[in-house]
Amino acid sequence: MLETNITKMFGIEHPIIGAPMGPFYTTKLAVAISEAGGLGVLSHTNLLGRSSEKELKKNMEYVVEHTDKPFGFNIRTSRMQPDAPHLCRVIPKFIMGDQRLREQCTYIITSAGSPKTLQSSRSYKKLKESTEVKNFHVAPALWLAKKCIDSGVDGLVVTGTEGGGHQSYEKISTLVLLQQVTEKFPDIPLVACGGFATGASLAAALSLGADAIAMGSRFIATHESEFHENYKDIIPEADAVDTELVTGVFGPIRLWKNEYSKNHGLVSDKQEKLAAEHQMTVEMLMEDQKHYEMTYDGDIQHGAVLLGQSIGIIEKLEKVNSIINNVVGDAERIIKELPDLVKK
Ligand SMILES: Cc1cc2nc3c(=O)[nH]c(=O)nc-3n(C[C@H](O)[C@H](O)[C@H](O)COP(=O)(O)O)c2cc1C
Repeated sequence: MLETNITKMFGIEHPIIGAPMGPFYTTKLAVAISEAGGLGVLSHTNLLGRSSEKELKKNMEYVVEHTDKPFGFNIRTSRMQPDAPHLCRVIPKFIMGDQRLREQCTYIITSAGSPKTLQSSRSYKKLKESTEVKNFHVAPALWLAKKCIDSGVDGLVVTGTEGGGHQSYEKISTLVLLQQVTEKFPDIPLVACGGFATGASLAAALSLGADAIAMGSRFIATHESEFHENYKDIIPEADAVDTELVTGVFGPIRLWKNEYSKNHGLVSDKQEKLAAEHQMTVEMLMEDQKHYEMTYDGDIQHGAVLLGQSIGIIEKLEKVNSIINNVVGDAERIIKELPDLVKK
């Protein structure tokens, strides 16, 4: 057993958390992760013109019907995500109104925008006063970690550039970012994210001061995940060099290299991104959204296929509980063997 601040905080068996992977669904995946002793996380989903509020509520109900373990969910609070302020108001109210959700839904991960959107929501404040819910925000750079802490979050998800999906302009590796954040903010609960797929990486994260790891790409390649089989099948064959950073709606994103990624440049900083946003029309945004729907339907050449460099380590599709048991078992063995390195 590996007991950390985060396993104690959430009442989970293992320091392993599911990374949110919107706009795709991670509902069955979240159940499998929570049932295996980790913390499953629902994604912010709004594919095919569906309402993110209805989808999130439906997915939350699905989770509590299928597990009595703790779980969490994501809201992307980007300025390019117009439904975010609404979700920050209505979802805490929804949780308040359901006893199972009040007990089980203990983790809200906000990302891709301001940590204040949730922190300043009155209904979130009420929820926080009467439940054990915690809000962690994604910090892909040191200055953002400080901003999150100043906003009053309970913890950080420190995500480096090797990770799949949403990324920062700074392109700092998880290894360096973790050291920066733990040196500056040694007391803040911390989830390490981006590039994790093995027990050795969990052992490394814990020794660098993290309290848990979150994995995205590793969990896509599972029998339980709802990703299209074509998407999952990319992973065992792929190499670490098969991904690249391109410009996404919220900023840089890491994608598997394909026809879609080839046609996207990479903005160098936020100013350039803001200038590009001014040129964007609703039609262009809808056209981009279509490429996520293509991926959802299995068109992995023309769709946006978000994946991290860790695909270079993953060799097969597995069951969620065997991944979690192997990662934790290997980490424990490595940590136990480490004291032998110290000369008496
Ligand atoms: C398919 C996919 C979709 C993602 N969508 C989101 C999202 O909606 N919100 C978010 O905060 N991060 C998102 N991310 C980033 C992940 O939460 C996480 O940071 C990343 O997967 C970690 O790197 P790894 O893939 O190496 O584990 C996404 C990642 C992937 C692979």
